[in-house]
Amino acid sequence: MSVPMLQLALDNKSLKDALATTRILAKEVDVIEAGTILCCAEGMQAVRCLKSLYPERIVLADIKAADAGSILASMVYDNGADWMTVICCAPIATVKTALAEAKARTEKDGKERDVQVELTGSWTWEEAAAWKEAGIRQVVYHRGRDAQAAGQGWGAEDLEKIEKLCSMGFDLSITGGLVVEDLPFFKAFPIKVFIAGRSIRDAKDPVAAAREFKKACAAHWK
Ligand code: 5RP
Ligand code: MG
Repeated sequence: MSVPMLQLALDNKSLKDALATTRILAKEVDVIEAGTILCCAEGMQAVRCLKSLYPERIVLADIKAADAGSILASMVYDNGADWMTVICCAPIATVKTALAEAKARTEKDGKERDVQVELTGSWTWEEAAAWKEAGIRQVVYHRGRDAQAAGQGWGAEDLEKIEKLCSMGFDLSITGGLVVEDLPFFKAFPIKVFIAGRSIRDAKDPVAAAREFKKACAAHWK
């Protein structure tokens, strides 16, 4: 199995705070996420700024688009995002129109753009089959921030869903209040990306925290 990538989620309330974090952490991670909170606070300026400062990193705009797929996808890609998210409850038309924008740009300049379906909240296996049919390759398996705060942990039910999503051929990102000790729980699966925000950003030593994540990925996915 390939070693999973590490994505740093920047759910900061200001671009200034986000950039204070990336200044010390950008070179420690593979993917830099303009988090939902940062995108709401600062808009496309955040995406544009992150890609122009870190062109060698994958930049993900976690906008969790629910509608207007074509317009929102054009906005994030034209501001430098490589990947974006569409929320799982979005109509399939939104998934398809966002994906069409990604594909058009990839075909034009050869640089990969992609759409991830964000699995926060309710979704069905019929919908998952429709995403696959539409050409979606990546999904984000997400324990929502609020669900986590309300006490939701990781469990056997998550592993069953993750196994089924993998067997359908999706590449998975895993996220939601992850701490480095959580990683071995997922080690049976070919996880593409682990996404961490608070446990790295708010650590006493964020660089050491990011390195611990990388070390755990290398140790458990050989
Ligand atoms: C919340 C998100 C966050 O970016 C994701 O949960 C990662 O951040 P953290 O590790 O702090 O939970 O998309 O909706
Ligand atoms: Mg996020």
